[in-house]
Amino acid sequence: MSSHGDPIPMTSRPCGPLKGEAHVPGDKSISHRSLILGAMAVGETHITGLLEGQDVLDTAKAMAAFGADVERLGEGEWRVSGVGVGGFAEPDNVIDCGNSGTGVRLIMGSMATSPITVTFTGDASLNGRPMARVTDPLALFGTQAVGREGGRLPMTLVGAAEPVPVRYEVPVPSAQVKSAVLLAGLNAPGQTVVIEKEATRDHTERMLAGFGAEISTEITDDGRVITLTGQPELKPLDIIVPRDPSSAAFPVCAALLVPGSDVLVPNIGLNPTRAGLFYTLQEMGADLTFENMREEGGEPVADLRARYSPDMKGIEVPPERAASMIDEYPILSCVAANATGQTVMRGVKELRVKESDRIEAMASGLRANGVTVEDGPDWWIVTGKGAGNVPGGGLCKSHLDHRIAMSFLCLGMAAEKPVKVDDAGPIATSFPIFEPLMAGLGAQVVRDNG
Ligand code: S3P
Repeated sequence: MSSHGDPIPMTSRPCGPLKGEAHVPGDKSISHRSLILGAMAVGETHITGLLEGQDVLDTAKAMAAFGADVERLGEGEWRVSGVGVGGFAEPDNVIDCGNSGTGVRLIMGSMATSPITVTFTGDASLNGRPMARVTDPLALFGTQAVGREGGRLPMTLVGAAEPVPVRYEVPVPSAQVKSAVLLAGLNAPGQTVVIEKEATRDHTERMLAGFGAEISTEITDDGRVITLTGQPELKPLDIIVPRDPSSAAFPVCAALLVPGSDVLVPNIGLNPTRAGLFYTLQEMGADLTFENMREEGGEPVADLRARYSPDMKGIEVPPERAASMIDEYPILSCVAANATGQTVMRGVKELRVKESDRIEAMASGLRANGVTVEDGPDWWIVTGKGAGNVPGGGLCKSHLDHRIAMSFLCLGMAAEKPVKVDDAGPIATSFPIFEPLMAGLGAQVVRDNG
């Protein structure tokens, strides 16, 4: 599957119980960061469990273009010989980040304080997404950026030859923006300070500390104040990438919706900045338990067990939880369609600037399948039809967005009639084994032209 290739239409049919174990791939956020920080360290970083989805493979290619030695040793096992902070070479060609906002924004940050010029591009989805949120703070370091109208890719960045450290308050809840500023701060002398009002995923901070950078986070009345001391020598690491809670969301939610299901999703990271969906599902009445709770690599980890849950009720999702489940609203809306009552989701303006406008994409696809959805600029409300009562029978557009495609395929597993998705190709960006994994549990998801 490729987000650049021909569309891959798929149909998901109502199916019998989903049973078994779902071993989902490595965490996408941590995979990108492992490659980028590995490339900025001095020496050999060894990574196991890397997500080999297209987004991450594009980042691996980019790191090689900057001069790091990046080698695949086996399935999910990679070695990166880094060039050190400030050691990036100027790539010979344009850096194509494909579908990945995380890839392009973090890589922009990582090169922004080196004296090199880099042109970035991506697919139609990525080239429509806002980049000023990253290039504005990077300009404070002295980085110049020229892109298309509205701050869109393709875009060329001229890294600051004599960077200065910055103090920056992130205006939107975005781990990508926070991370871009921190990565740029690595090659600026002195202390770079990033302030975020709402906590977003903190993998960059944790991993920078792991690579030996001096970094601290203080919780204040203004939010989280993160202070990084620039120009460290990053030391290489052995990294075991935990499995992705955002990918686990799909087999978990499908199991809640399909009658008779009982699915175990082992080894899922429950970092509090990522786990909001699971608590929301429990509040809705889902039969979802955390088994074998433990700590691995400083992060809480559990095996998730999800069983069919016909009595879920709609809730008002606390807006302050949004950042910890921002990628999970599409699949949550499919669960909400099978609950009773309304599920109200507010404070989610960021959903409009993801790989697609996710509120619009989900609302129109749910409506095409007989579900009532109201929406506004930063909110949406799904009126549940009760377990198994979603009519289905609709065609949904994925808009080059992996999570939209997977959400609708999960919806079809428990609807009255099959649900079609116009292009499931983008699933390869984050969850390349989605089809065989769901089929192994008992789902009936088929390619229409295969
Ligand atoms: C990510 C941050 C989030 C998330 C994305 C991954 C990251 O984006 O949606 O899938 O790895 O930093 P924003 O920073 O735009 O919220």
